[in-house]
Amino acid sequence: MGARSIPELVLGVESSCDDLAAAVVGRGREILSSVVRGQTSVHRPYGGVVPELASRDHVRWVSDVVEAALRAAGLTAEQLDGIAVTAGPGLVGSLLVGLSFGKALAYRLGVPVVGVHHLAGHLASVEISDAGLARPYIGLVVSGGHTALYRLTDAGPPVRLGETRDDAVGEAFDKVAKLLGLPYPGGPAVAAAAERGREDAIRFPRPMLGKAGLDFSFSGLKTAVALEVERRGELSEEEVADLAASFEAAAVDALVSRARRALRQAGMQRLAVVGGVAANQRLRRELVRAAATDGFRATFPPLALCTDNAAMIAAAGAALLARGERHGAAPCP
Ligand code: KG4
Ligand code: ZN
Repeated sequence: MGARSIPELVLGVESSCDDLAAAVVGRGREILSSVVRGQTSVHRPYGGVVPELASRDHVRWVSDVVEAALRAAGLTAEQLDGIAVTAGPGLVGSLLVGLSFGKALAYRLGVPVVGVHHLAGHLASVEISDAGLARPYIGLVVSGGHTALYRLTDAGPPVRLGETRDDAVGEAFDKVAKLLGLPYPGGPAVAAAAERGREDAIRFPRPMLGKAGLDFSFSGLKTAVALEVERRGELSEEEVADLAASFEAAAVDALVSRARRALRQAGMQRLAVVGGVAANQRLRRELVRAAATDGFRATFPPLALCTDNAAMIAAAGAALLARGERHGAAPCP
């Protein structure tokens, strides 16, 4: 591996929350394998992620998932040139599993290991899936833990332009799912119910719409849904669908208006949308429509790369390894 060249084969490991994933990426772009083990059945009885159960499940499965990723890529561990692991943010117990495993494996193989910021991983997901995406562009990160706008240029790290002041948009989807009696994971359940509902049934407030700046806020919208649910009492299936559609429309409006403003202010014509909520079909539709009106280009990763995966971590890590970055390289004396 040359001093500044992208490593040939990087193993990515992601265990920051309730998904455990491993992937092998070639030369920072080519996905040779990507394995994700979800934990829906572990957490569904509790209606949300239970951190202690998440990390215990990761411990049980981490070596199997890594092995499966290597097998699917037709490789042995000895052929790897480097390892990239999510180092944060996330649930501490969950993060520790992937980090310990990645560091131990790198030590055994004698290859470098690097820690990757989870959001840098999400941003990399679109760079590996859309070869036509060139910097500079605006990145909209919409996940269960984060909602933020970034400016990405070739000079230096991403610059954050705005972020949520309270709940993340994915978190709002998850909480609204609970209010409506829909199962965990909430985002896809709300989106599915919304497809059967009327988006104009209830006019929920559009968070921050009248305010300047590029920050977001979703807790007021969630409270508005909670009050409406309380007012109605027992909900029919039709009411659940209408509430889901009306909530989704308000949340999507807030994201679209902020993204448009960020593009306008930065004078940019490219928008990349990443994170679990980038899988939302209404968001995709509305952004494509806004792009046609305003004359920008909107790009999204394929659905499998929107939600947590390790290909994005391997891709982001490959770029860091090429720059010579290392994570806690010194072994114990
Ligand atoms: O990026 P991700 O997998 O994990 C985090 O980094 O948080 O995002 C998970 C979030 C969850 O809140 C989930 O409910 C939401 O993404 N999500 C969706 C959809 N699919 C996943 N939200 C709305 N519509 C969807 N189709
Ligand atoms: Zn994520």
